[in-house]
Amino acid sequence: MQVRRSIVACILGTSLCVAAIPAPAQHQHDPAMHMAAAQKPAADGRVPVRFPAMLREHTLANMRDHLLAVAEIQEALSKGAFDAAGRTAEERLGMSSLKLHGAHEVEKFMPKGMQDIGTAMHRSASKFALEAQNASATGDLKPALAALAVTTQACVACHAAYRLK
Ligand code: HEC
Repeated sequence: MQVRRSIVACILGTSLCVAAIPAPAQHQHDPAMHMAAAQKPAADGRVPVRFPAMLREHTLANMRDHLLAVAEIQEALSKGAFDAAGRTAEERLGMSSLKLHGAHEVEKFMPKGMQDIGTAMHRSASKFALEAQNASATGDLKPALAALAVTTQACVACHAAYRLK
């Protein structure tokens, strides 16, 4: 009963949630923790990942384009240009962008947890693209904004856990 009540509090998003749930055990499913054991983390706790020099440049350039894409998406949404927002997301961040990013090449150098976050980002960007199309029919932007939030949460999660050497 005690446990169930704390879960309810957690779902409701109260501060009790933090107090009631014990600190996450450093178990193996946490990608950052898992890698940290194998690869000696940086002082800031992120797992360092080594890419070949050219791929590193290429990846960072891609990253800057990711941020630009997010800005363009937000601008398009602010103008009610839902289809354009969806296209930008699909082509630059979504599943259709994998080839553009040379994802296959880069993936080989990523720890599993990093790959998974990358995949989650591409999926949610494609979901946003669909929801943005829906929004142009229904006028309801909320599902699209929710998918965009999941997309940027993937950016945040990966940046919190990994850095390039
Ligand atoms: C799968 C992991 C991953 C995902 C997902 C990801 N990034 Fe990154 N990003 C990185 C890593 C690793 C770096 C390098 C950080 C470092 O070495 O300090 C980086 C760096 C960056 C940089 C700095 C680029 C530079 O020139 O130094 C920007 C900007 C950026 N990311 C934006 C984004 C945005 C916006 C998203 C989401 C739409 C995103 N990233 C998603 C891993 C990721």
